[in-house]
Amino acid sequence: MPTPALLQVEHLSLQFRTRDGTVRALEDVSLSIGKGETVGLVGESGSGKSVLAYALLGLSDGAARVTGGSSRFDGLDLLAAGEPALQAIRGREVSMIFQNPKVALNPIRKVGHQLEDVLARHTTTPRAQLRDKAIACLADMRIPDPARRYHAYPFELSGGLCQRVMIALALACGPKLLVADEPTTGLDVTTQAAIMALVGEATRARGMAMLLITHDLALARERCDRIVVMHAGHVVESAPTEDLFRDPRHPYTRQLIGATPVGRASLAELSAIGGSLPDLRRSDLPACRFAGRCALRTPDCEQPLPELRAGPRTLRCHQASLQEATA
Ligand SMILES: Nc1ncnc2c1ncn2[C@@H]1O[C@H](COP(=O)(O)OP(=O)(O)O)[C@@H](O)[C@H]1O
Ligand SMILES: [Mg+2]
Repeated sequence: MPTPALLQVEHLSLQFRTRDGTVRALEDVSLSIGKGETVGLVGESGSGKSVLAYALLGLSDGAARVTGGSSRFDGLDLLAAGEPALQAIRGREVSMIFQNPKVALNPIRKVGHQLEDVLARHTTTPRAQLRDKAIACLADMRIPDPARRYHAYPFELSGGLCQRVMIALALACGPKLLVADEPTTGLDVTTQAAIMALVGEATRARGMAMLLITHDLALARERCDRIVVMHAGHVVESAPTEDLFRDPRHPYTRQLIGATPVGRASLAELSAIGGSLPDLRRSDLPACRFAGRCALRTPDCEQPLPELRAGPRTLRCHQASLQEATA
């Protein structure tokens, strides 16, 4: 019996109303994350990864409109839940870390006090112990000299240290799920590796689940149990990590993996994938949003996308049977 997923997103569609038209940013997106599981969400820039991360936490901005589907966390429908229920969950049950730690940190409050705020709000830590606990959180993130750093303002810390403080804040109250949106993009390679190792250890030690959003396929392969591939607002394929790399089936996944040199490479560096993402404001978006870039395209590809579930893999492609035969 499979245990129920911690997070279950089903058939989620979301649009933005803009002055230039309606952006169909997510369409029929399904995704699940089990307890303690690390799931990677990969795809080129603009494919809808961040929009999905915000939407599934009920955090979309005012221009966003969910037009269908659901996102359930531990049984609670996040899209139907009111703001008080969401606020009780965010920071305590689900935390998020971003590419830019400055967004998550208050620039005019000492980092130690910011940690105490979170601990006081979301845990039962007695007042007298808040300070020691905050320092312990900094130490857990291997921040050198934590008792001194407790008094630092964010601007006094390097980018890497700010990232560690943000992670300390996200983990302070032991959430069940961490959503990490490109958490190390923009940091140097050594710092990236150190921070990902830290996040990996912390999630494993606490049995936390993680949604790791990245355009770095090598990183996703190293860190994730399962990978979900997005293209232009669709999930095109998902599979256990090694299955996906050994036997990618969607033409987009094949190109991504084929275009990734062995070793470290990021999608940002790849130019091997021809064409570009379609304009999501078009009212005549094709059923398969990859068709315009796909070498295997046939007239079938104008028909609504099939959803193929073969065990743990999902795949949305008319050419799947062809691929199956040649796999
Ligand atoms: N507030 C918004 N208003 C209009 N369009 C948006 C908004 N936020 C994101 N989008 C569009 O949604 C699509 C997906 O964006 P995003 O999720 O940020 O991509 P990714 O994180 O995969 O790089 C893009 O086409 C982007 O322009
Ligand atoms: Mg993004």
